Amino acid sequence: MRLAGKIAIITGAAGGMGQASALIFAREGAKVAAVDLDEARVAPVVEAIRAAGGAAIAIGADISKTADVRRIVDRTVAELGLPNILFNNAGVDTEGKRSILDISEEAFDRCVEVNLKGAWLMTKHVAPQMIAAGGGSIVNTASIAAHIVASSAGYCASKAGVIALTKVTAVELGKHGIRANALCPGATETPMAREQRIEMQKKGLPTSNELIDRMGVLGRMAQPEEMAMMALFLASDEASFATGAVFDNDAGWTAMSGISVQAFAT
Ligand SMILES: NC(=O)c1ccc[n+]([C@@H]2O[C@H](COP(=O)([O-])OP(=O)(O)OC[C@H]3O[C@@H](n4cnc5c(N)ncnc54)[C@H](O)[C@@H]3O)[C@@H](O)[C@H]2O)c1
Repeated sequence: MRLAGKIAIITGAAGGMGQASALIFAREGAKVAAVDLDEARVAPVVEAIRAAGGAAIAIGADISKTADVRRIVDRTVAELGLPNILFNNAGVDTEGKRSILDISEEAFDRCVEVNLKGAWLMTKHVAPQMIAAGGGSIVNTASIAAHIVASSAGYCASKAGVIALTKVTAVELGKHGIRANALCPGATETPMAREQRIEMQKKGLPTSNELIDRMGVLGRMAQPEEMAMMALFLASDEASFATGAVFDNDAGWTAMSGISVQAFAT
């Protein structure tokens, strides 16, 4: 098993990629602290892990709030042990109007608070426990929207910030045996992507194959498990020389020309 003996905290564990990662990390031997806003939404993932013979706990918490983050760390240490893996996967996109002229201050702030500040807060409070554990691996979910205009200003800017945060984390914490890498998913079939599609449908914009064909050379969206497998590699000791790096997992979307979802959405 690739994560035998490891203790992993996964945020956004009720969502598409988080759920897939929690199940796969546990299958590979990790004890998992599965975190999401609402504990009841994450409970079925924990039950599935336990039913398969694994160990997991469900934690309802908002990663943008210090008190909640402290509670995540306290419960993980008390109930599972010192964490070796932090998968900062939780994220939000802006709802409603997406143009830089129309996005509300509240929506912009929420992207930064959750996507960027949340990842930093989790790192700040989990890293000391990871150091006590002798080191570990942090995987931050950014997005190809950090490189190309694939969503709103709040989302793209916060995800670009996640890449910078990852590099600072790698440089500052490397001496403690902590690696940090950014995972940039391309279009992936999850509730977040479904919401985006509904919104585009409302605007009468192309949403199916016509659009997906432009999102990479494979002509399809990713399944959440395809992101979880890259997160698994980065979290595991197999990636022992990888730190401060950015891993695009996007079926060649960013390798193509500058065709972007936003070009259709505005
Ligand atoms: N789906 C895609 O196409 C895509 C592409 C690129 C990047 N991403 C990124 O991948 C990650 C996972 O996204 P997904 O597609 O699985 O989305 P998702 O909406 O299915 O899951 C995200 C989860 O994060 C949780 N969450 C939101 N705010 C939170 C908070 N403050 N505290 C704790 N949990 C919170 C949500 O409740 C949700 O369960 C996100 O960071 C997203 O930005 C997704």
